[in-house]
Amino acid sequence: MTTSVPINGLSLTLNSPIDPDRLDRIVADLAAARPQRIVDLGCGWGEVLFRVLEAVPGATGVGIDLEPADTDRGRDAADRRGLTERVRLEVGDASAHRGTYDLALSIGAHHALDPDVGKALTALRGLVVDGGRLLFGIDYWLSEPPPERLEIMWGGATLAESRPLGEVVDAAAAAGFRLLDLHEVSQSEWNAYECGLVRNQEEWLLTHPDHPDAAGLRRRLDEGRREWLAGHHGYLGFAWLTLGALPGT
Ligand SMILES: C[S@@+](CC[C@H](N)C(=O)[O-])C[C@H]1O[C@@H](n2cnc3c(N)ncnc32)[C@H](O)[C@@H]1O
Repeated sequence: MTTSVPINGLSLTLNSPIDPDRLDRIVADLAAARPQRIVDLGCGWGEVLFRVLEAVPGATGVGIDLEPADTDRGRDAADRRGLTERVRLEVGDASAHRGTYDLALSIGAHHALDPDVGKALTALRGLVVDGGRLLFGIDYWLSEPPPERLEIMWGGATLAESRPLGEVVDAAAAAGFRLLDLHEVSQSEWNAYECGLVRNQEEWLLTHPDHPDAAGLRRRLDEGRREWLAGHHGYLGFAWLTLGALPGT
């Protein structure tokens, strides 16, 4: 039995909000173009990349992430899923990566390339062949949060960190991408993600109420839940954009 507080996120399928069945439909749509070379910038433990590789036999993929714990988790999963020969997970800074790909994935991780969404999209366009695809997952403001809500969100949250969805799509067009499909996650998909992030720690609390670390964990979880429900809940959305790279841009 685990005796120390487990790291969070172990209950999540992937580290971004979406219903896994909806993700499969997006992946099937991408797979129809038969991409052979795939890159995932800020891949986490690689779930989206693996789903695409499973949907396109023979395709190969590279995933890059700063967090060795995530790439280790991904390598174990790749092994279990028989993908080891077709995928390489690297620990590193995605902004330094160069290459040419039929499909790029950037999910909840545009800041890995640039904090400015327009500059991140321009960098992504440089990695994708003409006519290729980008799956771009990004948070955006559903409506502008008032200062009292902004104050409660994650430490130091600013209005400039996210943009309205229309501006994100305009930035994609300016970078040379056309919008092929758009999925905005529902509040229930967000809620499942927020609960999934801490679910294994909440379960641990139920079985270790008298553990010396239990009170500290409970306080951190209570504070995190306040940041979500009294902070970004209802103001921050998350969208999955399927984008096509316009030749000549
Ligand atoms: C919200 S997570 C999303 C992970 C994954 N794309 C998914 O949807 O499951 C963002 C990821 O970006 C990674 N990241 C942040 N900055 C990065 C950088 N400069 N280079 C590579 N990865 C980075 C983080 O380590 C984290 O795993």
